[in-house]
Amino acid sequence: MNNNPIGVFDSGVGGLTCLKELRKLLPNEDIIYLGDTARVPYGTKSRETIAEYAIQDIAFLEKYNVKMILIACGTVSSVLMTEDLFAKSKTKLYSGVIYPAVKSAFAATRNNRIGVIGTPATIRSGCYGKALRELCADIKVVGRACPLFVPLVENGYTAKDNKVTRLVAEEYLEVMKKENVDTLIMGCTHYPLLKDVFADILGDKVTLISPGAEVARYAAKVLMQKNLLTDRQTQGQCRLFCTDSEELFSENVSAFLGSDINAEISKCSL
Ligand code: DGL
Repeated sequence: MNNNPIGVFDSGVGGLTCLKELRKLLPNEDIIYLGDTARVPYGTKSRETIAEYAIQDIAFLEKYNVKMILIACGTVSSVLMTEDLFAKSKTKLYSGVIYPAVKSAFAATRNNRIGVIGTPATIRSGCYGKALRELCADIKVVGRACPLFVPLVENGYTAKDNKVTRLVAEEYLEVMKKENVDTLIMGCTHYPLLKDVFADILGDKVTLISPGAEVARYAAKVLMQKNLLTDRQTQGQCRLFCTDSEELFSENVSAFLGSDINAEISKCSL
């Protein structure tokens, strides 16, 4: 057993999709979450810049002696090789979101037509397509970059009836309808905050995959298999850090997680 916290990071609030699932599956674990809100979005930046940011994010979490680090950011997970990122780090247990999301999408599809939406960097990397084709050579993968979704989410435009979000989503998802995908990987962890909008546009026959939730499930399985879960019998602590104003971040946190999470939120510098 291991009572150290689990570390989770993202460029902003998207990784809360991972944190929420972790809390559900492993309520007694302590969690340290970092949202690099001062520098979000990562998805429009160069590979070098994304690498520099990710290394700083990891170093921050390691100060808390985390037992595992989850990269709850589609962009970092797609643009960089996870093994390279952790090559010089003391953290031996880690995961990005690609592998868990791809496995789940492959299990869900019935017609082998899978859509992937993500940041420009994620879609440009083609990594979801590559990983899916390794599982099945003749799978059809339809990618679409959706650069406007991250700012919409970070600014709280997440309600199903928000007209601006709806209009943008209709335009982005048109190709998914045309290509008849039956499974959609929401390849940026911010996007599940808009899942009600997507479900409304695509209908209930399309399965939506949340990479943040998938990596949380994967982490729970690995920690259990390696006998590294906490032996604490009480609820774990959640400490959330952001690099910009705590105010907007706190609003987003309570809108998404609800008040029952009882997390301490602080501003930090990297
Ligand atoms: N949550 C991040 C991702 O999954 C947001 C991307 C960004 O910062 O551009 O890609």
